[in-house]
Amino acid sequence: MADLIEDLLRRMSTAEKIGQLNHPAIGADTTGAGTGAANIEERIRRGEVGALGAGLPLERLAAMQRIAVTQSPSRIPILFTLDVIHGHRTIFPLPLGLACAFDPALVRRTARVAATEAAASGVALAWAPMLDVARDARWGRAAESPGEDPVLGAAFGRAMVEGFEESDLARTDAVMACAKHFAGYGFAEGGRDYNDADISPFRMHNVVLPPFKAAVEAGVGAIMVGFHDLAGIPCTAHRELLQGVLRRQWGFDGLVVTDYTAIDELVNHGVAADAREAALLAFTAGVDIDLISEAYLRHLPALLAAGRIAPNDLDAACRRVLRAKERLGLFADPFRRFDERRLAAVTLTAEHRRLAREAAAKACVLLKNTGVLPLARTGGAIAVVGPLADSRPNMQGTWAVAAHPQDSVTLLEGITAAAGAGRHVFHTCGTNIVDDPNLAARLNVFGETFAINPRTPQDMIAEAIALAHRAEVVIACVGEAKEHSGESSTRNALGLPGSQRRLLTALHRTGRPLVVVSMSGRPLALEWEEAHAAAILHAWFGGTECGNAVADILFGVVNPSGKLSMSFPRSAGQCPVYYAEAPTGRPIDKIGVDVAGDTEVDAEGRRVFRKFTTACRLEGAHTPLFPFGYGLGYSAFSYGAIALDKSVLSGAGDALTATVAVRNAGVLPGEEIVQLYVGDPVASRSRPVRELKAFQRVALAPGETRRVSFRITAADLSYFRAERLAEPELVCEPGAFRIEIGTSSARLQSASIEWQAEA
Ligand code: BGC
Repeated sequence: MADLIEDLLRRMSTAEKIGQLNHPAIGADTTGAGTGAANIEERIRRGEVGALGAGLPLERLAAMQRIAVTQSPSRIPILFTLDVIHGHRTIFPLPLGLACAFDPALVRRTARVAATEAAASGVALAWAPMLDVARDARWGRAAESPGEDPVLGAAFGRAMVEGFEESDLARTDAVMACAKHFAGYGFAEGGRDYNDADISPFRMHNVVLPPFKAAVEAGVGAIMVGFHDLAGIPCTAHRELLQGVLRRQWGFDGLVVTDYTAIDELVNHGVAADAREAALLAFTAGVDIDLISEAYLRHLPALLAAGRIAPNDLDAACRRVLRAKERLGLFADPFRRFDERRLAAVTLTAEHRRLAREAAAKACVLLKNTGVLPLARTGGAIAVVGPLADSRPNMQGTWAVAAHPQDSVTLLEGITAAAGAGRHVFHTCGTNIVDDPNLAARLNVFGETFAINPRTPQDMIAEAIALAHRAEVVIACVGEAKEHSGESSTRNALGLPGSQRRLLTALHRTGRPLVVVSMSGRPLALEWEEAHAAAILHAWFGGTECGNAVADILFGVVNPSGKLSMSFPRSAGQCPVYYAEAPTGRPIDKIGVDVAGDTEVDAEGRRVFRKFTTACRLEGAHTPLFPFGYGLGYSAFSYGAIALDKSVLSGAGDALTATVAVRNAGVLPGEEIVQLYVGDPVASRSRPVRELKAFQRVALAPGETRRVSFRITAADLSYFRAERLAEPELVCEPGAFRIEIGTSSARLQSASIEWQAEA
């Protein structure tokens, strides 16, 4: 088959080769781009279209493919693409939520289902997984990310790629994965989307890049480049990143794609005077496919003619596109992903819904529980209130482009079904998601997901209070609208919108136990809720089966096991806040001045002196409200001390085993996510206080104790000492290391080990 590609390349005209690098829009879109692409069929015929979005009915896609393979100059099939971020028609929890399951096998199964449904809808390349480490909750795109940690992100990325691509991309149920947004988009300054990110090579190699490297090692077919600039160089024009790191260091030979209109945007970034210069910059940096800008189509011919671009480089880029199409089986059968019967048979099946329900439940994180949960099957009435209780379109979360809102199960439906005849359920919305019509309009930008209720706020709250008085327990379903997060959705404040806080305050005053079910696409600041609610279950946006999954947890059918993939701050002012912080010169537990009248004590009852330490924040604590790795269940797990089979490692190949006994001290069977962290107290660079290295999910019967072991090697103790992006040096430095194992990044058993360079 390689001959087919070379043969094609010999026969294709320069214009056709450039056409293969062109991914136009079909007609105008929400950003206003793509208006020049109305006559798409004619353009396909002319050989100007290498790839296209697949968000159209199958027969339309098939008709376009037919034109490409029968009428375009070299009869090359089109590569159809789509955002398949957390499911296709069956929607799974947002990636930030799914990552809370700490369960790569589950992630892989959801990606498999998504690929099956997407491939049956004509999609050959999915713009996923999004692997941007996200540490700033103000950034709306945290929703699409696997969270704050590179090791968790790498496990997530690997599982997504394996699930999408399977063993063979030519399968009719496989799609090519595209890891994005390369790289560091999650570090956009201040959490402001599209903003620049000034990231050191040290942080790039130790924090930002590992999930992408894992995706490349798993065989990801494509990489999408970030919109942002990295220390003055937009990623779209970043030769050192794309060629130095991606192609040379990692040996990636797949497709490199821009983000939406990103070549044109080089002009706005101020690094190119016009689209022609922008095309030159992007092409010479190593970008193969121009998504939407059409700058290659317009300007590469002249740039080639002027000798600014080498014909060989054009061939190389075109070859990568053709090879991707070949691997996807498109030359063998361009219509393999257009089959109405298969589409109907594999879409939103009962099995897919079952998996969606399992995944949504595993994504939920129980943040607080005074014992009110789980609810009994029989008993007094339940008041289900709040603007997200019965809001079908909001259940799916952002970036669910192929979802049908009517497919999803609301919280009210799930709770009502679970309560059955055993408990009466009352409902009222109690308040609007937000009261500000201007904000509501923005949140409804992709179609209305909620309307502002014409009733007065006082009237709505009064009804909610009346229902609460008639009930034994109140379940308040509150949080963000689905488009509060996602692209272009930066927030200043992270608490619940004022209207919803007022509702909760009123409900709390009724004296009824208040169970908060919170939903969002980012960590929220929930200090008030933590202080006042009897329980808080964070459900993210759980997808198609969200309502049933939440009900499974509320009624104890499922014992919650999710752990936070991203720390929940106390306030927006704490952002970015993450567990793997630097020790600093003035650590929280080392230096401190006893300020007269300061009465703060820590969890162990010790006096806390924060003046002149890193914890010098005047309002509130230094730590996040709920840290990474935190999450409760209905079982209580206790940990024994760490036992080591030896405490000194010698040389690169040595390994030791650290074991803890984990006991389910509760009365229900439960699953615990046991986490291993490593700290390097003395190194030639200041290293984070701790870093996650591994995790295991263990299922324990009540009273059962299991010995959980982790194998630790020099690789777990190493880090990149990178002065320049292109020259990372992986080092393991002799000396002592701290091993920590436990239930969250803030509750750990600890032991010391040592690494020696020579055996
Ligand atoms: C987003 C990408 C997405 C692309 C195509 C862009 O706006 O940043 O993540 O894949 O659009 O829809």
